[in-house]
Amino acid sequence: MKKVIAANWKNNCSKDFINKYFSFFNANIKINQKSKKEIIFFPPDLYLDLVSQSIKDLSGINYGCQNLNINEDNTTLTGGSTSAMLEDMNCDYVIIGHSETRENEFNKSLKSKILLCKKMNIIFCVGENSLERQNNQTLKKIFSQLDELIESYFDNMSIIIAYEPVWAIGSGETPTLSNISQTHESIKKYIIQKLPSIKENDIIVLYGGSVTEKNASSILKTDFVDGVLVGGASLMAEEFTKICNIEF
Ligand code: PGA
Repeated sequence: MKKVIAANWKNNCSKDFINKYFSFFNANIKINQKSKKEIIFFPPDLYLDLVSQSIKDLSGINYGCQNLNINEDNTTLTGGSTSAMLEDMNCDYVIIGHSETRENEFNKSLKSKILLCKKMNIIFCVGENSLERQNNQTLKKIFSQLDELIESYFDNMSIIIAYEPVWAIGSGETPTLSNISQTHESIKKYIIQKLPSIKENDIIVLYGGSVTEKNASSILKTDFVDGVLVGGASLMAEEFTKICNIEF
């Protein structure tokens, strides 16, 4: 199965940053049609077009948006990016339910977002906070978040989950490899149990939270890990290119 390596740039970007970034990345990335990997960039929406231009000559590299906005009651929404607009920008992917955006969202709006994504593949984020972890509530929390996706499942939806423990994001801390492996296995088993028509190989589970050049190789080689979602380390072209060039 191919590995997915995704860069979540969050709210960091400039035209100058993109030009410098891709002059390094494009010259040093080792990828071709036979590579068993897919690289995905998630820039801020304002820079989607420039990123799309910057990667157009490479194969195996895609891009997407970090969220989408909905107007539940068909009202107008100043400053919003709708799924139709993001699909018009040819986004291949959308991140839904990142812990940094979940706080202000209701379960209902996450489900509505999922149902709006007819062309973009969803990367659905789940993960426990430190208190839930201390109280052994990790899987309970993750399963309740997975239910949001499962209840909105439609035919031919690709299932891509990012397991991102909230306490690991930007903290320099990560779960142990065996912990990551067990959690990913539990995620896959839970989805199959709830959606029996789905096969294990159709479920992609990425790990995210303090992935760096130093730990990426061992995380990517861990059982049940199908890729990584990288935040801070993806902002450094050299470091992220090294992560992308890891051989499996
Ligand atoms: P981090 O962020 O790699 O900086 O921990 C990951 C994320 O929030 O997706």
